[in-house]
Amino acid sequence: MYNNNPTLENLGDKVIQEDKQGDVFYQEQMQGKEGGKKFYIESYGCQMNFSDSEIVASILNDIGYVPTKNMEESDLMLINTCSIREKAEDTVRRRLRIFDKVKENRPGTLIGILGCMAERLKTKLLDQEKLVDLVVGPDAYRDLPKLVATAEDGDKGINVILSREETYADISPMRLGSNGVSAFISIMRGCDNMCSFCVVPFTRGRERSRNAFSVVAEATELYQRGFREVTLLGQNVDSYKWENPETKEMVNFADLMIMVAKVSPDLRIRFSTSHPKDITDDVLYAIRDYDNICKYIHLPVQSGNSRVLKLMNRTYDREWYKSKIDRIYEIIPDCAISSDVITGFCTETEEEHQETLSILEYSNYSMSYMFFYSERPGTLAARKYEDDIPLDIKKRRLSEVIQLQNKISRAHNQGDIGKTFKVLIEGDSKKSDQDFKGRNSQNKMIIFPKKPGYQAGEYVQVKVNDATSATLFGDLIEA
Ligand code: SAH
Ligand code: SF4
Ligand code: F3S
Repeated sequence: MYNNNPTLENLGDKVIQEDKQGDVFYQEQMQGKEGGKKFYIESYGCQMNFSDSEIVASILNDIGYVPTKNMEESDLMLINTCSIREKAEDTVRRRLRIFDKVKENRPGTLIGILGCMAERLKTKLLDQEKLVDLVVGPDAYRDLPKLVATAEDGDKGINVILSREETYADISPMRLGSNGVSAFISIMRGCDNMCSFCVVPFTRGRERSRNAFSVVAEATELYQRGFREVTLLGQNVDSYKWENPETKEMVNFADLMIMVAKVSPDLRIRFSTSHPKDITDDVLYAIRDYDNICKYIHLPVQSGNSRVLKLMNRTYDREWYKSKIDRIYEIIPDCAISSDVITGFCTETEEEHQETLSILEYSNYSMSYMFFYSERPGTLAARKYEDDIPLDIKKRRLSEVIQLQNKISRAHNQGDIGKTFKVLIEGDSKKSDQDFKGRNSQNKMIIFPKKPGYQAGEYVQVKVNDATSATLFGDLIEA
């Protein structure tokens, strides 16, 4: 899942520090609460994890902890972790060394590990990371007040029980790193797909969908607070399914998107991630028919070869995926599609790798997240297949994939030169406070010079005059 948020790297193995507007939110949360205990939180991994950190913040706030961006003044340091690849876990362990140093100078400070690594390694983490006081899995955050109290008393607090029901539906997330314009809404948790390479079903448990009305209520509240874009999050949003207990009617993902789209025509809807096997024509029609549902689909292919896809247990083959791509462009001609790709999966041959390259061209992705295969303990692939592609070959294939995707992205973006897009202003561009940044419906970042009288959260028309593989540049067209 992953990637359409403006400020957070999707599957990054690194933490992304928030932009300036985020500081304002921190300060607002702190107001009138000086003197209370403070927590510091770092998040890694997917958007879901960043969204979970906002739930954690809200739960901690209820017991008197306020957020701080300065770990050295915190009483509780938390790291919300990712296990998706070995590198992600290595990053977390490196950060824990820094946490340990801070704790040496501030002995009363508690350290907590949250999220997927907590779930994967459980009590092992307490043995391996001596200074850790708390280990809390993704479904156990409601237990934090009790676990923190345990740790404050000098014991270790651990809860890694996965749930079949927990969706945190009633918790109003504290928008931690927010730019005040776009926010995440988790609509489901867990994953019932068993992609053979993937650790998520083990760290996040069974799939469950959140009450549709609570999703709409959260979107409405965000809109009223001035937010103009929500990203509906789940590992596999297209299998969203919730039964209205009163009417017994089933709400599917297309229905849910339309319910959220109706909150206001000025609220943009994004979503992530779609699994190719589950995205339906109804979802495509909803995207086509509602202007405020963004014309952008993240549809990870993983591999372009049918034999490898079968080993990966993705349940579609090359031809089926291509026909899905055709269908999307047929129903929504101006849709941008992006992807995730894994190179060097077990037994992948050079010819099979070539098929991954050719499916990138076929799909004409606007962008992709690209990785070399990293074996994860306990997964089906780890148990059944040998991780037999040497690292240098995995990496060489990855660099070929990246090079090709860059070329495709550049051409995709250059194709936008001369076009005018409706852009939601997110704030100042990273490089200059003389420029705004914002996105078009296709999720492309556009940088353009500021004009007086416009501000973040407003929609403007921007005519594109230049493009790189990652960014569009343009001018604001005044009405
Ligand atoms: N639920 C989403 C993806 C979740 S993980 C989906 O099905 O698309 C995000 C991405 O990480 C995956 O799409 C995959 O490309 C990559 N990934 C997952 N496990 C991996 C592994 N063991 N090695 C390398 N990349 C992996
Ligand atoms: Fe992992 Fe597959 Fe589930 Fe995505 S759909 S989270 S890749 S098991
Ligand atoms: Fe997300 Fe990483 Fe967990 S990608 S679900 S935080 S393993």
